[in-house]
Amino acid sequence: MVLLTEIVPDFEADTSLGHIKFHDYIDGSWAILFSHPADYTPVCTTELGEVGKLQGEFAKRGVKLLALSCDDVESHKGWIKDIEAYTPKSLVNYPIIADPNRDIATLYGMLDPDEKDKAGIPLTARAVFIVGPDKRLKLSILYPATTGRNFSEILRVIDSLQLTAKHSVATPVDWYHGDKVMVVPTLSDEQATAKFPKGFEKASLPSGKGYIRTTPQPNLP
Ligand code: BEZ
Repeated sequence: MVLLTEIVPDFEADTSLGHIKFHDYIDGSWAILFSHPADYTPVCTTELGEVGKLQGEFAKRGVKLLALSCDDVESHKGWIKDIEAYTPKSLVNYPIIADPNRDIATLYGMLDPDEKDKAGIPLTARAVFIVGPDKRLKLSILYPATTGRNFSEILRVIDSLQLTAKHSVATPVDWYHGDKVMVVPTLSDEQATAKFPKGFEKASLPSGKGYIRTTPQPNLP
């Protein structure tokens, strides 16, 4: 199981778009590896279709897409036709890894003991690994097979990860690109004044502690 900030394990795999080596595929970009229990399953079909529709949004953020499902390449290629037919305006021209023996699923701790194939072998859960250009894990989430993910939320967290990687800020509840952000607690007021030319506001709280400091998003004009 890979932990936050660790270099993600490398692997080679066949995909719907040819053979890849994960670290070479990342190649200095952001990347998202997201898994699916199996081909020709209803929730997965909606998720991959949605990602196919949102590809431009991931590309705008410089994020490479890489899906995984526990079936072989031929199965993936047939399934892609269904995915594109079911979700209008979806184009699945990002790679889907074939992991029929669960080698990558095991390496990344993605297996769901509650969901098994016809042979009784566990399938993968709905894991998401967001990897930075330094190949280190920036975020992971794990959903059970029965709960589809919200890929707009994944775009939102990518906006936060990319912003907070470069600026000494954190993003509050339900934050979206353009909203005010929080000055990180590790900065003193003096350091925050020097770092944020637009200034910051401090909330007045019953404790008298000035730990909630908001500032306009620093990378916007
Ligand atoms: C699905 O993708 O619909 C699914 C796959 C495995 C278990 C439950 C649902």
